[in-house]
Amino acid sequence: MEKIQLEQNIALIGFMGVGKTTVYEELKQMGLPGVDTDSLIEEMAGMPVSEIFAQFGEPHFRDLETQAVCKAAAMQGGVISCGGGAVLRRENVEALQRTGKVVLLTATPETLLERLRDDDTRPKLRGRKTVEGITQLMKERRAAYEGAAQITVATDGKTPAQICGEILEAVKNS
Ligand code: S3P
Repeated sequence: MEKIQLEQNIALIGFMGVGKTTVYEELKQMGLPGVDTDSLIEEMAGMPVSEIFAQFGEPHFRDLETQAVCKAAAMQGGVISCGGGAVLRRENVEALQRTGKVVLLTATPETLLERLRDDDTRPKLRGRKTVEGITQLMKERRAAYEGAAQITVATDGKTPAQICGEILEAVKNS
């Protein structure tokens, strides 16, 4: 596979289950350095995300997330996989936009439910694993996602390779 180099970062944002991690892994395969904010948070806290929520609550998780986003944004020409709530804080969005392009991945609630049905690692999905529950949380977050996004790529029915191709093309033309 051809190796690529970028001048700016690509920050992947979007709802849980939209495929940020898959696209992130694919872009790393193409030679880009990468940081996954949830993995960084887990390293910092020494425990899984679900445990941070359970023991310390969401506000503490969000504080760690801001630190992780700032660290990730300090990279050059890499790919950042952001947790689904990372753009709820404006300061995080500003940090990501300062050094890169923010790319929103989207999918329908039906697709997301299909992918997340058997997942129990995401505290924000608890009690919401229905099309209605996902639609409601998406609605609450729509303004934050759309306000942060500089590029938007719909993922339904596309392969990871197609999605990466669209992202790289859009970043090149931006
Ligand atoms: C969250 C999404 C998760 C993780 C945490 C909170 C959210 O990341 O950061 O559970 O608020 O949407 P993924 O989007 O990678 O699942």
